[in-house]
Amino acid sequence: KIVELVSKEQQCDDTGEEREIHPQQAWEENQINNAKLNFGSKDRKQKDYQFVFEDQIEFIKSTIVDSDSDVDVDNEKLQRTRNSKLIEDRKALPIYPYKDALLQAVHDHQVLIIVGETGSGKTTQIPQYLHEAGFTRSGGKMIGCTQPRRVAAMRVAARVSHEMGVKLGHEVGYSIRFEDCTSEKTILKYMTDGMLLREFLTEPDLASYSVIMIDEAHERTLSTDILFGLIKDVASARPHLKLLISSATLDAEKFSDYFDCAPIFKIPGRRFPVEIHHSKAPISDYLDAAVVTALQIHATQPQDDGDILIFLTGQEEIETAENIINRRIRALGTKIAELITCPIYANLPTELQAKIFEPTPEGARKVVLATNIAETSLTIDCIKYVIDTGFCKINCYNPRTGTESLMVAPISKASANQRAGRSGRTGPGKCFRLYTEHSYMNDLEDSTIPEIQRTNLANVVLLLKSVGITDLLNFDFMDPPPAEALLKALELLFALGSLDKDGKLTKVGERMSEFPLDPMLSKMIVASDKYKCSAEIISIAAMLSIGNSIFYRPKDRQVQADNAWMNFHVGNVGDHIALLKVYNSWKETKFSTQWCYENYIQVRSMKKARDIRDQLESRLERVGIDLTSNVNDLEAIKKSIISGFFPHSARLQKNGAYRTVKHPQTGHIHPSSGLSQVLPRWVVYHELVLTTKEYMRQVTELKPGWLVEVAPHYYQLKDVEDSSSKKMPRGIGLA
Ligand code: CDP
Ligand code: MG
Repeated sequence: KIVELVSKEQQCDDTGEEREIHPQQAWEENQINNAKLNFGSKDRKQKDYQFVFEDQIEFIKSTIVDSDSDVDVDNEKLQRTRNSKLIEDRKALPIYPYKDALLQAVHDHQVLIIVGETGSGKTTQIPQYLHEAGFTRSGGKMIGCTQPRRVAAMRVAARVSHEMGVKLGHEVGYSIRFEDCTSEKTILKYMTDGMLLREFLTEPDLASYSVIMIDEAHERTLSTDILFGLIKDVASARPHLKLLISSATLDAEKFSDYFDCAPIFKIPGRRFPVEIHHSKAPISDYLDAAVVTALQIHATQPQDDGDILIFLTGQEEIETAENIINRRIRALGTKIAELITCPIYANLPTELQAKIFEPTPEGARKVVLATNIAETSLTIDCIKYVIDTGFCKINCYNPRTGTESLMVAPISKASANQRAGRSGRTGPGKCFRLYTEHSYMNDLEDSTIPEIQRTNLANVVLLLKSVGITDLLNFDFMDPPPAEALLKALELLFALGSLDKDGKLTKVGERMSEFPLDPMLSKMIVASDKYKCSAEIISIAAMLSIGNSIFYRPKDRQVQADNAWMNFHVGNVGDHIALLKVYNSWKETKFSTQWCYENYIQVRSMKKARDIRDQLESRLERVGIDLTSNVNDLEAIKKSIISGFFPHSARLQKNGAYRTVKHPQTGHIHPSSGLSQVLPRWVVYHELVLTTKEYMRQVTELKPGWLVEVAPHYYQLKDVEDSSSKKMPRGIGLA
């Protein structure tokens, strides 16, 4: 079923929030020669990424009405008109006529399943209704609403604070990993499901909340599924806590069954008929087909009858499509009306996200290029045409090898129907499916497999253990994960020393769970205490959390960019140390933007790394690890890294590929690595991603003896003995 492998790092739009997102792949695109997605490479126009991005929160804040500011009379009038328009808009939403009935149902039942079409007002209105009905008054409690996606959490919070005329971060706020935009005043809190999960660590009974709304439940992200199990318990212990499970699709019965036959509240949608067109024959290049279809619609249909929404799989595809469309429209000149391209994906800078919500200027048409973020999480008004490529990216985990990859895979029938539905919100719509009807009927699954059944569970297992869930096999999963994946997670946590042989959380495990990171990264940080280099290790961890968007390489300045890059990799120090050098050099310049510019480093990524590092630093304090710096002792730094990543150690083979020491798995050093031409005999890598082949990313050389020293329970001398002492020739084996 899986048609194409794409690298884990390049999109991440569609798989929830806890994975960090990586913007422009300028560097990589060139190096691996666009091998990942093979369409329209001649159309691909490299963007010269400039430093135009502001900090995300600052921007959102500035778009929000400042209720404290002095306004002159004209402004006041304008404000009043705007406010009354907002009130009218709110009243026009499908949910509005059901406000009282809904409140009554919430009053009568502790758990309620809410089903309503995307755009009916569930996310933005229900928390406000509950607030107006007094749910935030008793004891200053909050209403929490979870979202599977960061972008949705931020945008919805911004929208609601706007509707309520308050500053974002005050009464209405949001919380996503490494970014807390809430305050003492906050009563409506939008957050990612992963963040609420982490709140169980500090507040297992969620006492600060009077209502929890688990929104977009149909997405069945890993965090949402775990939340179900935990929150069901909390609800039985706290009879006054209200629990709303809201979903855009009709899995409602399943949710209801799970929550002991909780009643289902249906918000009747106002769906207009949607005409569905399938392609007559299978399409090989769906990106090109999507672009052509969009241009045809634009050229042949009256401009004022509605906008176009194209579903693609990730950022790279979206950028490619955007470039092609813009180029072709420009080529047509004045022969055709204006077509405004609006990309939307998880990692799009906030100021650009706003564009999709702005009304289309008269005489023009908008084409929104979206990942499946627009399937249900975000509502875009005035869409009349939907172009559905039939694909999305999903996260796949192989418990046997421990490899994770994001793959382009066919969507489910449920998704296809959701996508089509986006065109019939404000009037009759049309959906063009770039796959055959036969394929829809026979190839697509009915619904998407829940993430819990296809992902690495180490993270949530550690979290569950930390909140005191000892018996995972009997945890109340809505759909249980494969036993093999659970076992693999337990094994890893045991190897990392976070669980003892009885499966109980150890002191190390307790410390690790304080960090909102993957267990191997957390372990690396906890171990840095011993090696007296915590300052360096949290910098490295922060830089690794950013992903692969540190360096960039503009087309017209590749040589300069490569030279700058070389400076950090001099002496074949390895990628981890190179990242540390980047961070420290930037810090020495007092975090200068100019320095980033001169060194072809993305300032936006660096700022994010700084924020993450600050947070990691404060967590060090919480777990009682001193901030100690030992920047010249590379061995100590590398040993800390290995303490977390020893399962990721690999040995060079005769053919130039690497093989992991335990659970043999072949990999190649990624071409973007500083060691890709060096090919050390032994390496430790941060992650193994599947693109055109298995690539190890972020690689550092190690001495095999260190493995036995750092992880004697895992490696014995015989594992790391070299069978031949011959040195491998340099620079072989990588295409
Ligand atoms: O959650 P649900 O899909 O039911 O709807 P919602 O997100 O509450 O959106 C209700 C309406 O609010 C949409 O139809 C949009 O017109 C508007 N909205 C917006 O303008 N900007 C946002 N960021 C979110 C919603
Ligand atoms: Mg919603």
